[in-house]
Amino acid sequence: MRLLILYSTSTRRTETVANRLAEGFSTLCDTSLSTIENWDLDTTPDYDLVIAGGPTAGQGELHLKWRRVADEVARLDMQGRHVAVFALGDQRHHGGTFGNALWLLRELWEQTGANITGETSFTGYLPQLCPHLRDGQRLPGLLLDHIAQRRLTTPRLESWAEQLQQQFALQTAARSLP
Ligand SMILES: Cc1cc2nc3c(=O)[nH]c(=O)nc-3n(C[C@H](O)[C@H](O)[C@H](O)COP(=O)(O)O)c2cc1C
Repeated sequence: MRLLILYSTSTRRTETVANRLAEGFSTLCDTSLSTIENWDLDTTPDYDLVIAGGPTAGQGELHLKWRRVADEVARLDMQGRHVAVFALGDQRHHGGTFGNALWLLRELWEQTGANITGETSFTGYLPQLCPHLRDGQRLPGLLLDHIAQRRLTTPRLESWAEQLQQQFALQTAARSLP
């Protein structure tokens, strides 16, 4: 399986997450990692799974670097391919728009015809700060708050990576031995 991780970042939190995903997956499959602004989008359909991530910016908006390529992404033909999305946000200072980029990334990639995968649930967050979200609600991907819930980033990340690895039957050579 060929995996591509695409991300944007301003203050490098998303970059750290993307790097960690790439480190974990590269031992299991052919993995490429790039910022969205440095990627040749035409080659994207060569990948079986794309993991696309970015911070929530502005007032619940996609990061500028994603907005710049949105039309180009929407025109890709990703039929038969899979896309998993992740986003960062801040419940304490942006509760009303917490993690909106997650839904916007899903909307964007849905337009390519890809199968969107990697759902999680809004469990263990701070619903009292996020009036538009309710406990237990399905989320279209991985949502991280590396500001108010920094210590939950690693377990959330690991659990999501494990979910995708199981789904795509990715195993280390050692594990696949009889
Ligand atoms: C100007 C600005 C606007 C932001 N707006 C939102 C927002 O609407 N919703 C949200 O959940 N987080 C918002 N955030 C928080 C970022 O998503 C968060 O800081 C993220 O970790 C940044 O990731 P990065 O380091 O990869 O750029 C905003 C941050 C900044 C600086």
